[in-house]
Amino acid sequence: MRAVVLVGGFGTRLRPLTLNMPKQMLPIVGKPMIEHVVENLASHGITEVVLSLGFAPDVFQSAYPEGHCNGVPIQYAIEPEPLDTAGAIRFAADSANIEETFLVLNGDVLTDLDIQSLISFHEEVGAEASIHLTTVDDPSRYGVVPTDERGQVLGFIEKPLAEDSPTNWINAGTYILEPSVLNRITQGRRVSIEKETFPSLASDSALFAFQSESYWIDTGTPATYIQAQLDLLEGGVRGFTDSGIDPTAVISGAVEHSVVGAGVVIEEGAQVTGSVLLEGVRVERDAIVSDSVIGFQSSIGQNANITSFSIVGHGVNVQQGEEITESTLAR
Ligand code: GDD
Ligand code: MG
Repeated sequence: MRAVVLVGGFGTRLRPLTLNMPKQMLPIVGKPMIEHVVENLASHGITEVVLSLGFAPDVFQSAYPEGHCNGVPIQYAIEPEPLDTAGAIRFAADSANIEETFLVLNGDVLTDLDIQSLISFHEEVGAEASIHLTTVDDPSRYGVVPTDERGQVLGFIEKPLAEDSPTNWINAGTYILEPSVLNRITQGRRVSIEKETFPSLASDSALFAFQSESYWIDTGTPATYIQAQLDLLEGGVRGFTDSGIDPTAVISGAVEHSVVGAGVVIEEGAQVTGSVLLEGVRVERDAIVSDSVIGFQSSIGQNANITSFSIVGHGVNVQQGEEITESTLAR
């Protein structure tokens, strides 16, 4: 089966890390997010990936110029302007001549979903489209999907107010689509699969959903971009044994439950907890970084304090003693 992976968004919630780089090219424990996604698809029998690109497509193209990502053939479909999720799927499917049942994935999702069970479900119920659902405590930032006991979707409500949400089962961003779904998407304009295509499929009783409690995370916010990585570490929920500390890092201070990239220097008296330090970061004496992300080649001055899901962009020099809490800093 072929997969269209949506990676064309602006990644606004991860700015300034994403000002010049799509979020799917940001590292997740040492390698770009897209490589985790593509490897996982390949391990579930996906033979070819079409990357649906919009914002900063050259970053992908220069990383994988030969049209392969970790051994999987990839094709690029570059939108002339952002077409939103369904518009992007139509554009990518047309560019790659997709005329068979195919898979679609939000490219910022990391999951252990058994894709073959989703495919079997889709075939058994005879759906035109099937969606993977997962549960979350607060559904208000997701697509909320009530179903009947067979899995037939009764409605699709994108990002409702928490109090209006009829269920905690949400759209987890993996879909199996019949090629006929493409005919429902008008060519060449912005179309949201969540706001237009899914509600219309649901009202034709053609949309089904498969519930699974397998590991799942959308990496698109500061808190979840950090969490997705901590979950991969030794003692994390996914059973990996990576320490998260690159062997080229030079650590004199204290580091706890964090991801430390290549060439990072952490000076004496500095403390790093629950954080992600990308390649080349320097944390100077007695500085504190907790629950935060520091971009490539940035430095944190002596006694500075970076806390509470703050993001320091790439190449930023945070001054001595500066305090950043629950906010962002760009160059
Ligand atoms: N090519 C292209 N063009 N890709 C796009 C576009 C576009 O115009 N807009 C967004 N994308 C890509 C993003 O890069 C991302 O990988 C994916 O589509 C989803 O966009 P997000 O911006 O991450 O959406 P979200 O997280 O707010 O909501 C979506 O995902 C949730 C689950 O993670 C929706 O599908 C929700 O219904 C869902 O619950
Ligand atoms: Mg997302």
